[in-house]
Amino acid sequence: MSVFWTVWISILLLGSIVGCYVLLKLAQKGQSGEDENVKTGHQYDGIEEFDNPLPKWWVWMFIGTIVFGLVYSVLYPALGSFQGFLGWSSQGQWEQEVASKEHEYAAIFNKYAAVSVKELANNPEALKTGQRLFANNCAVCHGSTATGSRGFPNLADKDWLYGGDAETIKQSIMNGRFSNMPPWGSVLGEEGVANVTQFVLSLSGQSHDAAATEKGQTSFKQFCISCHGAEGKGNVLFGAPNLTDNVWLYGGAKEYIAESIGLGRKGVMPAHKDLLGDEKVHVIAAYVYSLSQ
Ligand code: HEC
Ligand code: HEC
Repeated sequence: MSVFWTVWISILLLGSIVGCYVLLKLAQKGQSGEDENVKTGHQYDGIEEFDNPLPKWWVWMFIGTIVFGLVYSVLYPALGSFQGFLGWSSQGQWEQEVASKEHEYAAIFNKYAAVSVKELANNPEALKTGQRLFANNCAVCHGSTATGSRGFPNLADKDWLYGGDAETIKQSIMNGRFSNMPPWGSVLGEEGVANVTQFVLSLSGQSHDAAATEKGQTSFKQFCISCHGAEGKGNVLFGAPNLTDNVWLYGGAKEYIAESIGLGRKGVMPAHKDLLGDEKVHVIAAYVYSLSQ
């Protein structure tokens, strides 16, 4: 904070406190102290105005708040960049609380880390913790019930891009996943994309045009099987989806399939190793694993 703002805030704050005191003194001015029933001489509709002294308890409370305000501004950060004599800061308090909680939970997370992800999935307490961590860190993309949405895979079913065994799930979370489906629009042309789209529709048993499918199959053999496999069943090494099961990451309608093929797709699952640390990921992995069991 610049010197200007520090001076500005200090003048405003201390000025207001002094102003309060002056106001009090002004209100007491001319009052003889104890005298009750001093009339001002003003009268409205038979109601007379008195100039009685302010009640003592009220005056002391007012002075009390002024003193409190002054003491507070000296002890705590209130006057611009001045940190206060107690050295308190909200950041410091937060760090202290986090540190004490981390310490408290470390024992629990260490206990969880000692068993495998698969075994941990049988521990209801761990799953509850995993669910909370999931809600805070993963639900934005995968949904609060982990069922995903377009472009974000469902983690609660048995269909996996990279594999659904406990350790692979943990790897997906720890290191993240980048998949790359190259765009084929410029290679195949509009008609080529339309033909291969018909072939992909046939793979999942959807209605398709027979002649176009046949042409599409030739392109598929040439360009697609390196990742999606000869039968279109996908490959967990590249995260290439199974195209035969009618479970779709980007949608299984003709337009969506053609869009996937023509423009390509690049799904990114961010790595959580550094964000959450191994122990928390371990517990989340157990939760995710449990969903499809
Ligand atoms: C920014 C969005 C985003 C966040 C946050 C995110 N994910 Fe993902 N996740 C994705 C996407 C997109 C994919 C698919 C990547 C691909 O297409 O290759 C994915 C893939 C996965 C996979 C692999 C699925 C499979 O079928 O093999 C797992 C497991 C997973 N995420 C778990 C998690 C967990 C657990 C968290 C929270 C710690 C999380 N994700 C947070 C976007 C996200
Ligand atoms: C380099 C490997 C690679 C090649 C070659 C490739 N794909 Fe893909 N394909 C992928 C990956 C990886 C994904 C998943 C993208 C993602 O998760 O974001 C994908 C996704 C798709 C999808 C979307 C699936 C869904 O569930 O929504 C379709 C459809 C598809 N590919 C069809 C094809 C066709 C047809 C060809 C050949 C013209 C082809 N792919 C060639 C890797 C490849």
